[in-house]
Amino acid sequence: MAIVYHEKSKEFHLYNNEISYIIKILDNNQLGNLYYGKRIQDRDDFSHLLKGCLRPLAAYVFENDYTLSLQHTKQEYPSYGTTDFRYPAYEIKQSNGSRITNFLYYSHEIYSGKKKLQGLPATYVEDENEATTLEVTLFDEVIDTSLVLTYSIYEQLPVITRNTKFIHHGNEKIIITKSMSASVDLPDSEYEMLNLAGAWSRERHLKTRRIEQGTQGIYSMTGTSSAEHNPFLVLKRPNTDENIGEAYGFSLIYSGNHLEQVEVDTFNRTRIIIGIHPDTFEWSLQKNEVFQTPEVVLVYSDQGLNKMSQTFHKLYRTRLARGYWRDKPRPVLVNNWEATEMEFTEEKVLQIAKAGKKLGAEMFVLDDGWFGDRDNDKVGLGDWYVNNFDKLPEGIVGLSRKIEEMGLKFGLWFEPEMVNKDSDLYRQHPDWIIATPNRRTSPSRNQYVLDFSREEVVDYIYGLMEKVLGEANISYVKWDMNRYITECYSVGRDSEMQGMNFHQYVLGVYSLYDRLTHRFPNILFESCSSGGARFDPGILYFAPQGWTSDDTDAIERLNIQYGTSYVYPISSMGAHVSAVPNQQVGRITPIETRANVAYFGAFGYELDLNLLSDEEKNKVKEQISFYKKHRELMMKGNYYRLLSPFENQDTAWSVVSDDQSKGIIGYYKVLNVPNDDWKRLKLRGLNQNKQYIINGDPKRIHFGDELMHVGIIIDDDDFCNNSVDFSSSLYVLTEKI
Ligand code: DGJ
Repeated sequence: MAIVYHEKSKEFHLYNNEISYIIKILDNNQLGNLYYGKRIQDRDDFSHLLKGCLRPLAAYVFENDYTLSLQHTKQEYPSYGTTDFRYPAYEIKQSNGSRITNFLYYSHEIYSGKKKLQGLPATYVEDENEATTLEVTLFDEVIDTSLVLTYSIYEQLPVITRNTKFIHHGNEKIIITKSMSASVDLPDSEYEMLNLAGAWSRERHLKTRRIEQGTQGIYSMTGTSSAEHNPFLVLKRPNTDENIGEAYGFSLIYSGNHLEQVEVDTFNRTRIIIGIHPDTFEWSLQKNEVFQTPEVVLVYSDQGLNKMSQTFHKLYRTRLARGYWRDKPRPVLVNNWEATEMEFTEEKVLQIAKAGKKLGAEMFVLDDGWFGDRDNDKVGLGDWYVNNFDKLPEGIVGLSRKIEEMGLKFGLWFEPEMVNKDSDLYRQHPDWIIATPNRRTSPSRNQYVLDFSREEVVDYIYGLMEKVLGEANISYVKWDMNRYITECYSVGRDSEMQGMNFHQYVLGVYSLYDRLTHRFPNILFESCSSGGARFDPGILYFAPQGWTSDDTDAIERLNIQYGTSYVYPISSMGAHVSAVPNQQVGRITPIETRANVAYFGAFGYELDLNLLSDEEKNKVKEQISFYKKHRELMMKGNYYRLLSPFENQDTAWSVVSDDQSKGIIGYYKVLNVPNDDWKRLKLRGLNQNKQYIINGDPKRIHFGDELMHVGIIIDDDDFCNNSVDFSSSLYVLTEKI
C-alpha cells in the first residue's frame, strides 16, 4: 500500500520510492500538512513537525491553548477567517450572508486505483496497482455540506494528483465563490517560480523569478487556458537547474479560466493555490447537488527540472492522453493553411496533396475555408457543410475519396465553438452566442462564441460534425478555437447561475470532444487555438496532439517548443516545416533547420510543396523518411533539455530511448559567429558503459561517459567553415553492438 493511516497519531502517509506526503487530522479535526517532498521513512507519529506557540496578534482555535493557530499551520484545504488570514482554497456564501465555514474530519477511504472524474478530464490508471487513492471526507454541520479531498499517488512515478468535491445535503442553497483544486503549504520560501507566459505566436516562453513575501501568480480570465499563461507552475530551489536540485511542479488539467497563486507570508512560508479562477466563478448548490473541481497534478523532483518534465511527459503521454492514437506513430501530414489560406480550389489542394504523397507524406489536411460561404473570416463559421461547389465540386465526400485514392489519409479543420453573424446558424439562432442582454457584444476575428454551456447548442454542432465525419473518409480533425470570451452571459439561465457560465462552457467543450471521440475512436484529433492558446492538459486528454503555435519560424519555435517541454511531451507538439520567408516573422532559415526543429514534435509540412526547387524536394523526401525511421524514438524517448534558448544563443535538446541504445540530438546555432569557440555539448541520459556510433560514422565511436562528461564535439564542418545564420545539426547515436 502506498498510503498508510496511523490511527493513533491520525496521520496519513502517502509515499512511494521517491516521494512522501504527510497529512494530519489536527486537534480541531481540520486537515493539516506535515510534509511534502523527497521520500522519508515512515513512522507512527510525525506530530513533532507541528509547531505552535503564543505569538502577538495571532488568533487561536482553542481558549487557553496556544498550540493551534491556523495562520501558523500548514493546511490541506484552508479557509479564511477562522484564525488564518491568508488567501484560502475555497469560499462559500451562505444564506445568512456569512462566508465562515468549519469542515471537520468525518471519514476516509483508501483504495487501489483511481476513479474517473465526472465530466472532466483526468489522469487514469490501466491497472489498479498503478496508483492508490485516499479520499478524506470533511463535514460542516452548520451548512450541512460535505467536502471530499481526493489524493492519488502513482506507484512508479513521483506524482500525486488532487481534486476536491463539495456535496451539499442542506435545504438552504449555498454559493461556492471559490473552489481551488488544491492548496499546498510549504514550510519556507527559498524558491524561484517558473511559469510559461506568452501571447499569440510566442506562446509558453519560460519566465523565472524569485518569490517574495506577498502574492505572485499567473492566471487566465479569457475563457480558455490562454496563450498568456499556461496552467502550470514550478517552485524550484534557487540552485536547482535542469539536472540537480529540488523542484515542485503543479499542472492543472483544465482548459478554462484558471489561477495559480503563490503566497509567501511574513513568516516565510509558502502557499500555492491552483484551480479555476475565482474572479469569474460562482457555483450554487441546492440540496444533493455536487461541485467537482478539475484535477491538479503535483510532481516532485530532487534531480532537477529535466526529471520533473520527464515525469510529466510520461504521465501525460501514457496516462492522460488516450485512445487509438495514444501510442501509435503519428502520420506525417501536409496542411494547406500557410499555402493557400481560404483561397483554394479542389484542383489546387489535390496538387498540394499529390506533391506530398510523392515525397512520402501520409496525410493531407484541409484547413479553414471549406464550409458554408467561407471565403474570408467574416462568413461561414457554424455552417459545417459545403455550400461552395465551385471550390469543392464533389464536397468533402468527393475530395476525401480522391485524397484516399492517392494513398493518403484525409484530415479536416473545424472551429466548432464559433459562429459568424453571416451564417445560416446565426440567422436561425441569434440567441445562441455568448452575449449580455442590452450590452454591446465585442467581435474578435469577426466571430462570436457559441454558448456551449447550453446542451442544445452542443447537440446541434455535434449533429453537423457527426454528419460530415460519418459521410466522408476522415482520419484526422483539427479543432480550432480562435477567440477569447467576452460579455460572458448565458441567455435563459437564472440570474443567480450566471457565475457558472465559464465553467459550464468548458464542460460543454469537453462533452462535445467526448461524444466525437467515442463516435469516431480512430480519428486523430489535433487541438488548436490560434496556434497554442489552448494547449493544456485538459485538451490533451481528448486530443493527443495540439498545434503548438501559429509561429512556424524555426528559430521562434526553439523558444516555444523548449518552453512547452517543461510540462508537455514532444509527442503532443504539432510541428511543421513551412515556407520562407516565414509568414510570421519574415525570417529565412535553411530547410534543414526547419526540419531539425520540427522533428522534435508531431511532424508535418505547412506549405505548397510544388513551389520548392527539385533540390528542396529531394531534401523533403529525405526528411520524411528520416522522421518515419525515428518517429517512435521521438515520440516515446526520454527528452533532455541541453542548452536553453532563454539563457544562451545556441539551443540543444535530445531524446534517448528507454533502453539507452539510441538517441538523437538537435543542436541549433542561431547566429553565426566568426571564428567561434570549439563547441562541446555534454549529453544526458546515455549509458556510460555503452559505445555509441555518431551519425553512422565508424570514426566517431565514443563511450556514453565520454559523451556525457567531456561532451560531443559539435561538427566543425557544420559550424566553422560553411556556417550561416540559423544553421543546425542533428546527431543520431546508435549503440555499437
Ligand atoms: C488558426 C490556426 O492556428 C491556423 O493554423 C489555421 O488553422 C487558422 N486558424 C485557420 O483559420
